Amino acid sequence: MWPDEAAAQASAETLAAALLPSPNAVIELHGPLGAGKTTFTRLLLRALGVQGRIKSPSYAVMESYELPGGGTASHFDFYRFGDPREWEDAGFRDVFAAPGLKLCEWPEKAAGQLPPADLQLFIELQPDDSRRVRAVGSPALVEALQ
Ligand SMILES: Nc1ncnc2c1ncn2[C@@H]1O[C@H](COP(=O)(O)OP(=O)(O)OP(=O)(O)O)[C@@H](O)[C@H]1O
Ligand SMILES: [Mg+2]
Repeated sequence: MWPDEAAAQASAETLAAALLPSPNAVIELHGPLGAGKTTFTRLLLRALGVQGRIKSPSYAVMESYELPGGGTASHFDFYRFGDPREWEDAGFRDVFAAPGLKLCEWPEKAAGQLPPADLQLFIELQPDDSRRVRAVGSPALVEALQ
């Protein structure tokens, strides 16, 4: 449960610790518009040491970051993703074939292309503005979020 962004930040920090030293995982962020998928992704990238602006990738679909400890993190927002050919054309096949961290908002819109996730987060917005989070996947990553 995330009562507020500070709680989400605490989860991002423990998850970052579980992913380091060489983040290499596919993480799906499920939840409706405004659930907090981008917010959590930003908190996780910050916890991994990314500095500077972290844009929402809505229009570009993908934004990539070099991690200070080495490696790459790629943040996807598949909300406007439609044509499976775009997967090839945009080079996403290569990104997913290479090691690194992949953070995917709206993964259901690219379900036919995405490889199996290491961690799925299901974020539910509650009436009091808190977030209920369910984690499914690799036990080491799920436990890091408890
Ligand atoms: N854990 C949280 N606690 C409180 N407020 C939050 C939390 N996460 C996000 N918010 C607030 O909710 C709003 C929407 O968050 P965000 O943009 O991360 O949603 P999203 O799931 O990425 O939406 P979209 O589907 O449009 O990409 C933001 O204004 C943010 O401040
Ligand atoms: Mg978003």
